[in-house]
Amino acid sequence: MINVLKSYNELSSTVADIVETQIKEHPLSKLALPTGSTPLGMYDELVNRKLDWKSVITFNLDVYLMNINLPQSYQSYMRKNLFDRTNIYPDNSHFPFRPFSGFEDKIEGSKGIDLCILGIGTNGHIAFNEPGSSFKTRTRVVNLSEQTIKDNSRFFDSIEDVPTQAITMGLGTIMESKKIILIASGDHKLNILNVAMNGEVTKTVPASILQRHKDIEIYYCD
Ligand code: GLP
Repeated sequence: MINVLKSYNELSSTVADIVETQIKEHPLSKLALPTGSTPLGMYDELVNRKLDWKSVITFNLDVYLMNINLPQSYQSYMRKNLFDRTNIYPDNSHFPFRPFSGFEDKIEGSKGIDLCILGIGTNGHIAFNEPGSSFKTRTRVVNLSEQTIKDNSRFFDSIEDVPTQAITMGLGTIMESKKIILIASGDHKLNILNVAMNGEVTKTVPASILQRHKDIEIYYCD
């Protein structure tokens, strides 16, 4: 079921509540974290609540294959919006890295992800698992679809500057998370959200696999 919230502020505070409860009840939590415009309000909320992140371990869902020191990298995004504003230990915040088996082992070694926060692309991608991705995929390099490059070009000076490849957690990796929260904001996401959550479970719509997760909550605002 899609929970429709009244405003972006309500979406941000609702999801921040879930993360706050998780961290307070389980200080050693393992979180999978998203980027993009949708989670920005949630990160602001979390920072303002001055939570104790010192035992929390985070795994980012995906990264562009690009110079990580540029402002558009997801590493820069996370530093700016969360990590540099909390007491999280740098050694506890992980981005997908090579060898990918090492990254997967790190997730497994921490007994898996407790809470995974996801956004959704207009083509139904989650993390950077583009349409056609197998439901069993693990962390790997992917080619970005034309749609994703176009959608994400708003963060770059020109569309030519958008990386064409990324490293993403796989759908299999994501589905092993104990709890998943999917967030989406804006009219342009409503159709794909409905297709993903109420339509056929198909590789053409990667997010549709989430219908098979036993602990998923979906939050939307227009
Ligand atoms: C990028 C990210 C996804 C994210 C999506 C939606 O493509 N790799 O993880 O879900 O953007 O982003 P936005 O919230 O900006 O619409």
